[in-house]
Amino acid sequence: MSNQHNQEKLSSARFSESTDAFVEAFTASIMFDHRMYKQDIQGSLAHAKMLNKVGVLNDQELDEILRGLDQVLHEIESGQLQWSIKQEDIHMNIEARLTEIIGVTGKKLHTGRSRNDQVATDIRLYLRDEIDQIQPEILRLQRGLVELAEREAHTIMPGFTHLQTAQPVTFGHHMLAWFEMLKRDLERLQDCRKRVNSLPLGSAALAGTTYPIDRHYTAELLGFDRVGENSLDGVSDRDFAIEFTHWAATLMMHLSRFSEELVLWSSAQFQFIDLPDRFCTGSSIMPQKKNPDVPELVRGKTGRVYGHLMSLLTLMKSQPLAYNKDNQEDKEPLFDTVDTVKGSLRAFADMIPAMTVKREITYQAAKRGFSTATDLADYLVRKGLAFRDSHEAVGLAVAHGIRSGEDLSEMSLETLQGFCNKIEADVYQVLTLEGSVAARNHFGGTAPNQVLAAVARAKDYLAQPA
Ligand code: ARG
Repeated sequence: MSNQHNQEKLSSARFSESTDAFVEAFTASIMFDHRMYKQDIQGSLAHAKMLNKVGVLNDQELDEILRGLDQVLHEIESGQLQWSIKQEDIHMNIEARLTEIIGVTGKKLHTGRSRNDQVATDIRLYLRDEIDQIQPEILRLQRGLVELAEREAHTIMPGFTHLQTAQPVTFGHHMLAWFEMLKRDLERLQDCRKRVNSLPLGSAALAGTTYPIDRHYTAELLGFDRVGENSLDGVSDRDFAIEFTHWAATLMMHLSRFSEELVLWSSAQFQFIDLPDRFCTGSSIMPQKKNPDVPELVRGKTGRVYGHLMSLLTLMKSQPLAYNKDNQEDKEPLFDTVDTVKGSLRAFADMIPAMTVKREITYQAAKRGFSTATDLADYLVRKGLAFRDSHEAVGLAVAHGIRSGEDLSEMSLETLQGFCNKIEADVYQVLTLEGSVAARNHFGGTAPNQVLAAVARAKDYLAQPA
C-alpha cells in the first residue's frame, strides 16, 4: 500500500489545524468497523450503478469505479491493504484507497450520499448476512433435538416443578420443549429480518440529496425489500439493531436454561446424561473431573448479550434527530452479540445429538419422589371421589411411603386400601411409570405416542423452506 493512503482526512479542508493525534484515535472506528468491508463495497457498487443510471456518472467513470472497488476488495481479502486510523473508518479507508488506484474518478463515488446513510446501509447489509447464517444454525439445533426426541420417545425421567420430582415425563417430550422455544426464536428472527431489510441509502446526511437519485433501483440491486420512507429516520434508526439484540437476548436466555439442565444432568448427583468428552474439559488439580464447560460458558455468555442490549438501548436513549456520532458505538455490541450467538448455537447444534441418555438412571430417578401420586389421585376420582378428598387420601399414602421407604407401586393392595376402600387391583396399572406417561395421551401431552406424533409434526416443519 502506498503511503499516500495516510494523506490528511478527506474532510479536512475547513480545518485550520489537523486533528489531535489522540482525538484521531479516540474517534476512529476502523479498528472494528473494518468487519463490514464487504458490505461497504457492495453498497458502493450499487450506489455507483445507480448514479450511472440516472446520468450522474458516465459509463467510463462507472467502469473505473467498479474495477477499482474490485481491486480494493482483492487487496483487503489478500491482506495487502492496511487500515489507517487517519482515514477514521471503513468508509473513508476504502474510498481513499479507491482514489489512489483510479485517481480523480474515485472522488466522485461519494456524490449524493453521506457516511450517515452509508453506514446505516452497511450495518443493515451486514446484519442481514449474519441473520441468514444464523437461521440454518437454529434449524440444525432443532434437527438434533428432534432426532434425540425420537430416539428417547419412550425414555422415562422425572419431570420437575420447583426442581422437586413432580410427575414422570418422557425424555423426548422434554427435548421437544426446547424445540418449541427455538421455533419461536426462529419466527422472531425472521420477523426481525423484515425490518432490517430496508434501504437507508439516499437519505444522504439527513435531508436527502439534490441529485436525481433512484432509490428503488439501489434497493433492487442490494436486495432490500423496501426503501426507507423518511431520510431523517433512515440515518438515525437503530431499532433494527436493538431488535436483533433483544432477539439474541431471548435466544441466549433459552440456551442458558438449557445449559443449566445439562450441567445438572451431567453431575454425579443426577447422572441423567453423558456429554461427549470433546465438549468437556478436565481439572488441573482433580483427576476425576469432567467439567461441562460448553454449557457453562453458554450460560455465562448470556450475560454479555443482555449487557449489549442494555448498551444499545442506552445509546439510543434521548438522541435527537438525526445522526449523532454516538451511533458509532452501536457496532461493537452488535458484532459481539452476533459472534456470541453464532458460537453458542454452533456448540449446541454439535453437542445435542451427540449426548447419551442414561435410561436406567432416569427411570430409577422417576421412581423416587412419588412421581405417580397424581395418577393415584386421578384414579380415585374416576372411582367416584371428589378430587380434594382423593388428594388427601393420597397424601396419607405418601406420608406412609416416606416412613416405610416404599414407592406407591410397591405397597400391597391391603395397605393401599387402608387409605381408601375404593382402591382395587387395577390400581397398579396407573402406579407404574409407563402407565403414568401413557395416560397423558392428548395433543401436547407426554405419552410416547404423542411424542412421536409431535416428532412427525416437527419433521414437517423442518422440511419447509425457511
Ligand atoms: N464511523 C461512523 C459511524 O460508525 C460513520 C458515520 C460518520 N458520520 C459522520 N457524520 N461523522 O457511525
